[in-house]
Amino acid sequence: MVTDSGVFSPGRIDPGTQLLLDRLEGPGARPVTPGDIVDVGAGYGPIAVVAALRNPDRVVWAVEPNERARALCTANAESAGVASRVRVVAPGGVPDGATVAAIISNPPIRVGKPALHDILGYWLRRLEPGGAAWLVVQKHLGSDSLAGWLRRRGCTVRRLCSRRGYRVLEVTGDFTPE
Ligand SMILES: C[S@@+](CC[C@H](N)C(=O)[O-])C[C@H]1O[C@@H](n2cnc3c(N)ncnc32)[C@H](O)[C@@H]1O
Repeated sequence: MVTDSGVFSPGRIDPGTQLLLDRLEGPGARPVTPGDIVDVGAGYGPIAVVAALRNPDRVVWAVEPNERARALCTANAESAGVASRVRVVAPGGVPDGATVAAIISNPPIRVGKPALHDILGYWLRRLEPGGAAWLVVQKHLGSDSLAGWLRRRGCTVRRLCSRRGYRVLEVTGDFTPE
């Protein structure tokens, strides 16, 4: 994939992103139910493009505010042959009323808790029944506190794995807005 300075983890795939992608293919991984997939905070597209390659019949929304990252994500989807199914958009660019079967994300933790809760809440409200979110978060950037907040909002949160300070959370159930 092509990357560039000024986007997240330009020199190599982020170890958290790698862990998330590995865990979703591994033994015991829960299958993605039919429907669209969203990558919240797509960057140059490693999650969105891999999700599109692994789920050949699906639309993958790649949501990303950084214009340069969106251009790189589009280029990476093209070179992987999945451009027709990877919809690269800025936040707010997904049609009103759209729902998703899966959220797969290395989310933008550094925006701060209130903004992160707004971003994740927006997508969790659009998760279809039976769907799931898979999030990778560093322990020292608040994975346990995020899991606590999601549980208080009615979700079931399972820690799928933990490696080198990164945790992969699987989130299911009905999200109750605050
Ligand atoms: C941790 S990085 C992950 C990037 C990419 N998915 C990867 O794994 O390399 C989080 C991304 O979220 C983006 N971001 C920041 N604010 C956002 C928002 N409000 N909605 C969606 N994405 C946002 C950042 O620009 C950044 O690219």
